[in-house]
Amino acid sequence: MPRFDAVLFDLDGVLADTAHIHFAAWRRLGEELGIHLEPAFEEKLKGVDRMGSLDLILAQGGVQRTAEEKRVLADRKNGYYTAAIAEQTPDDLLPGARRVLEEVRAAGLKVALASASRNAPPLLRQLGIAPLIDAIADPAAVKAPKPAPDLFLEAARLVGAVPERCLGIEDSVAGIISIKDAGMVAVGIGDPTVLTRADYVVPTTEQFHIGDFL
Ligand code: BG6
Ligand code: MG
Repeated sequence: MPRFDAVLFDLDGVLADTAHIHFAAWRRLGEELGIHLEPAFEEKLKGVDRMGSLDLILAQGGVQRTAEEKRVLADRKNGYYTAAIAEQTPDDLLPGARRVLEEVRAAGLKVALASASRNAPPLLRQLGIAPLIDAIADPAAVKAPKPAPDLFLEAARLVGAVPERCLGIEDSVAGIISIKDAGMVAVGIGDPTVLTRADYVVPTTEQFHIGDFL
């Protein structure tokens, strides 16, 4: 019997080549606020939701803003981001992303999305992979964002899988913590010295094969 009933995917940096686009949009906003973000700051923002990311950036710059000002700034960043992804097509998928989804489905496992991004549903349609995904966990519908386990638990619930029989795939430190605290098996996409809590790490999505985990 296979070890898993479902695979729960993060989107940005796992299926979509958009992690660097989020960071570019934050850097642009940061410059406008006089806050310079070093490249290493990207790791701290990965997987962190929009308002949480803005809070980290403002704290980094020692800058205070009211709740209303923060809403305007977060909207501005989202405008930069959505403009940058507006022309994305299936050619912009990360290498191997479509093949991985197809292999997981062919193995008889459910596929769910556990992305912090409110932009996920339209992006999935643009990338042509929406029909390969059984359920999308809505980040607005859970209590706490990553690194809390809520979003991965919601994704598992939507496809009727128990956490112990779910494999979560993530490129972020925050996301790997969510998966582990949800009681699931975590595969990191990236660097094992960064994604230290992952059970397994593969360098890129292209090197992930579900057959290695069944
Ligand atoms: C995550 C990204 O997938 O989504 C973060 O890793 C981003 O960088 C978060 O902040 C929220 O995205 P959005 O599209 O709702 O602003
Ligand atoms: Mg990610």
